[in-house]
Amino acid sequence: MSNYNDVSETEKQEQYIEKCRAEVERISGELGRKLTCHVTTFGCQMNARDSEKLEGILEKAGYVIVDDENSDFTIFNTCTVRDNANQKVYGRLGLLSNYKKKNPGMKIALCGCMMQEEVVIEKIKKSYRYVDLMFGTHNIYKFPELLYNCLTSDSMIIDIWKESEKIVEELPVRRKYSFKSGINIMFGCNNFCSYCIVPYVRGRERSREPQDIIKEIKNLVNDGVVEVMLLGQNVNSYGKNLENPISFAELLTEIEKIEGLKRIRFMTPHPKDLSDDLIRVVKNSTKICHHIHLPMQSGSSEILYRMNRRYTKEQYLALVEKIRREIPDVSLTTDIIVGFPGETDKDVDDTIDVIKKADFDNAFTFIYSKRTGTPAAGWEQVLTEEEIKANFDRVLKTVQETSRKNVSKYEGSIMEVLVEEENENDPSMMTGRLANNTVVHFPAGKDLIGKLVNVSLDKCYGFYYIGHIV
Ligand code: SAH
Ligand code: SF4
Ligand code: F3S
Repeated sequence: MSNYNDVSETEKQEQYIEKCRAEVERISGELGRKLTCHVTTFGCQMNARDSEKLEGILEKAGYVIVDDENSDFTIFNTCTVRDNANQKVYGRLGLLSNYKKKNPGMKIALCGCMMQEEVVIEKIKKSYRYVDLMFGTHNIYKFPELLYNCLTSDSMIIDIWKESEKIVEELPVRRKYSFKSGINIMFGCNNFCSYCIVPYVRGRERSREPQDIIKEIKNLVNDGVVEVMLLGQNVNSYGKNLENPISFAELLTEIEKIEGLKRIRFMTPHPKDLSDDLIRVVKNSTKICHHIHLPMQSGSSEILYRMNRRYTKEQYLALVEKIRREIPDVSLTTDIIVGFPGETDKDVDDTIDVIKKADFDNAFTFIYSKRTGTPAAGWEQVLTEEEIKANFDRVLKTVQETSRKNVSKYEGSIMEVLVEEENENDPSMMTGRLANNTVVHFPAGKDLIGKLVNVSLDKCYGFYYIGHIV
């Protein structure tokens, strides 16, 4: 069965939001104060987008959103891509129990990727009895219903699904930024890289219908959004399984036509199937940012093979060369894993060789984390933890060298900046981003937030610029 947009489900959940609203009002009347809520997000931009949906629903249900985990309804939207993400969640959960002791009416909920792992659910059931609600990634659209059940019951509610084909559109969303937004174009992943847990916790690939995506973006633009980030685990396979198949390049071409939209970004394309069409569309576009995040993971063909990435060192470098030839001002960033089982110092030499040749503008570097249930979890390490740490430091040093050099190459020039927020340390300054994603700070007022301005990039300080509006 292919995925489908379930309109009646949207209506059902809207009714539950109303029921929650009445319940929240009742409790609030009893307490003589407003009820507060808080969503804490761990993990990637997909989770960040999901959290905006959770907040949208909570707000509609009558909660006041506060910036404090000590609230009447606190939910953690969890990530399990690496073990340290899980450890953070357990640590923070411990703190919540103290809050709940002082506020017995407090409800604690958990959702997101960690919840799709049976061992996690068992652990919470055993050691964190004070959690009120747990649900997973496949039924997040049922949140209004689950919230209602949680508000009207005293027992722990657990609702985790293995899979879902449903895509439920048009539930409320509360955006973090007024002028930019993430947009899910697809859910799940079919690639099964041997180290990665995402396909197990997010399920099989499902694309949204192009007309639903375009409608959502048009509505956002009408509401003041000028930049969108199209989100998917492998955007290159967008649309392949729709009833009327459409490619990612074709989707981009359609999105580009939306009037009033100024900047388009996307994440993540997989190097194994980045098409010439996509390169051409990015090259010829005035809206699609010339920034491609192209995760390489390793520079060793042997390791790439065992990672099930389905490209070699040479193919990756050839792709980088092609992209740079077609789009000379492109900024290329990547993800790298160090310490994959069986990786040797010589494999890491290959990774460093690719970093230098590809000349990345930036890279996220991770130490391999064993994920239960993935093929690589059963494979042996040949290096010790200290040796892996030393390799990690070597890789990081190389990344810092290439990125420092690349970030600074626009010093002295004038470029367009999207003004995003007040500078954290100095309220007389604003912070924005270049199309290539580099951060720029410059003197300006808050009235410019969400506007594109031309900024002279006066001085580069490592990873950011200080400039002035011209
Ligand atoms: N779909 C994206 C990546 C999503 S996960 C892609 O394929 O490019 C984000 C990053 O986390 C990955 O690119 C990888 O570098 C890292 N990662 C995933 N699983 C990991 C693991 N088990 N240990 C360490 N890093 C991991
Ligand atoms: Fe994980 Fe690979 Fe899918 Fe990315 S493409 S989410 S790394 S399995
Ligand atoms: Fe983490 Fe799930 Fe994203 S595991 S990285 S939050 S898809």
